[in-house]
Amino acid sequence: MAIRIERRAAATQAQGIEPGYAQTARRWPSQPLVLRPHTPSELSGPQVARRLSIVRGDLAGHGDKRALGQLIRLRVRVVDEDGAPLPGTVVEAWHCNAAGKYIHPNDSNDAPADPNFYGAARVLAGDSGLVELRTIKPGAYPVPDSGGWWRPPHIHFSVWGRVWLSRLVTQMFFQDEPLNEHDAILNAIREPEARSRCIARLAPTSKGPADALVYEYQLVVRGRKAAPSL
Ligand SMILES: [Fe+2]
Repeated sequence: MAIRIERRAAATQAQGIEPGYAQTARRWPSQPLVLRPHTPSELSGPQVARRLSIVRGDLAGHGDKRALGQLIRLRVRVVDEDGAPLPGTVVEAWHCNAAGKYIHPNDSNDAPADPNFYGAARVLAGDSGLVELRTIKPGAYPVPDSGGWWRPPHIHFSVWGRVWLSRLVTQMFFQDEPLNEHDAILNAIREPEARSRCIARLAPTSKGPADALVYEYQLVVRGRKAAPSL
């Protein structure tokens, strides 16, 4: 039986070329996309989870090797369009340090590096689709040549499905961040509810370990409520 997957709703996705975000003019396709169904061989192999090594779920370190910043535990549930968990999903995450600096040669931000901050992780979702990361809350950073646009704290995710063609690259934001209101990337999603789905919620501080704030997030990988490609 053929599996029918709901198309993503356009208003829940980024809207092409965005005024104030110059790079979108270069990145966005100039022609309408052509829908090309995947072939059986594309959908049957190679299996992603077997080929990628799982790196670590701890970007913050410990003791005198601990990264600077607010320690957080991030609990991400990876689900399908019906809210069913997707165990075995490979999730890659990366973000900047607490001062807003990435571990990347192209980062020109004049902010200090943190030798104890690792910057990236690759983890596997467990039986309940849960991915857990221990890290520090990323800082905001200025976007070069943008006239004062600062990116709000955010975490980049690359979510791999069973095969290489099945991949979603998106971003997660934090609740109650004033910079969320003006971020050109978050606000390229026109539907307020869809924007809201991109924002992790702070769990009650009585919940979880005493030394870290816990943020919870649901990552929908397909269907009308799928996380946007960002
Ligand atoms: Fe970023």
